[in-house]
Amino acid sequence: MSTDSLTALVRTIPDFPKPGILFRDITTLLADGDGLRDLVNRMAAVAQPLDPDLIVGIEARGFILGAALALALGKGFVPVRKKGKLPGKTVGIDYCLEYGADRLEMHEGQVPVGARVLLVDDLIATGGTALAAAQLLREQGASVLMALFAIDLPDLGGMVALEADGVAAQAIIA
Ligand code: PRP
Ligand code: ADE
Repeated sequence: MSTDSLTALVRTIPDFPKPGILFRDITTLLADGDGLRDLVNRMAAVAQPLDPDLIVGIEARGFILGAALALALGKGFVPVRKKGKLPGKTVGIDYCLEYGADRLEMHEGQVPVGARVLLVDDLIATGGTALAAAQLLREQGASVLMALFAIDLPDLGGMVALEADGVAAQAIIA
């Protein structure tokens, strides 16, 4: 599938979840079997040479693509969740995003010290979410090989912010 065809599968919905936000909705891409396979194959082609120990996905849309990628690469998957969702002992970090603020948490000890991880999410906007997740992973002693996204919204500067923080970043669709 061409990049244009893949991009065309992402729907844009204005004024969600707040006035002024152009929401990039990936559910239309996920519902298309060829599109989903093409996207995951493209993400796997970027990730495979890095040979990560683990895939870490960010709730909620990062779970879908992160788990698919983990399966494609034969690696384990670790969820980074919004606050209060994980049952075990957690470590966490507060962060801001394009339309609000939240807290990310992960299970303490689930990413071993020294682990080389690939961070996955569906989309990068301001980069606040991915920066927070990368910081949390570093605080656990992991190294973030790359943050990999399906979609970049370049006007919001997230990729630049990540790279300024020393996190290599790549997106399939810009
Ligand atoms: C969206 C998206 C990213 C984040 C990107 O998640 O899936 O995680 O925003 O924005 P940023 O680069 O400005 O931080 P959201 O918090 O809306 O949660 P959801 O996946 O649960 O819908
Ligand atoms: N997360 C942050 N900004 C977003 C946007 N414009 N569309 C979809 N998800 C987002």
